[in-house]
Amino acid sequence: MKRRTQICLLASALMFASTAALAQSSADDAAKKIAANAGCFTCHSIKHQESKDAGLPVGPAWQDVSLQYRDKPGAADFLTRIVLEGSNPYASHWKNKAAGIAMPPNAVAISESNARQVVFWILSLR
Ligand code: HEC
Repeated sequence: MKRRTQICLLASALMFASTAALAQSSADDAAKKIAANAGCFTCHSIKHQESKDAGLPVGPAWQDVSLQYRDKPGAADFLTRIVLEGSNPYASHWKNKAAGIAMPPNAVAISESNARQVVFWILSLR
């Protein structure tokens, strides 16, 4: 292969990769903005909290939520429902891992499609 062709191929591969990365990061930004506007960060952080010195977080970190659910079939539907309708205080999924006993319903603060978008993003966190 001629050197020039090689360089061209390399350049287009790089362009493709950076466009894909850009598309990904703007999807992340959009989801983050929706979550911020809906008040999710009052109780949740994105990153797993290494030390429990500061006490348990009110709600589970979203990296932990992803770890817990990302391989479960139907997780996106299941979590979207919980986000909209709130969680059951008598059947806490994060007992001893979060300080909050239950999540209040968020349907007043977020639409179903936005909730779904945020949940998809949460499940993509690593
Ligand atoms: C007032 C505090 C509070 C707010 C605001 C809040 N959450 Fe939660 N969230 C919690 C608590 C507490 C839990 C843990 C519930 C449990 O133990 O079952 C939780 C759990 C979750 C879970 C995991 C559900 C499960 O059953 O494992 C997801 C996903 C989630 N929240 C997303 C969101 C999103 C998205 C928003 C914003 C629209 C939001 N939360 C706003 C407190 C909150």
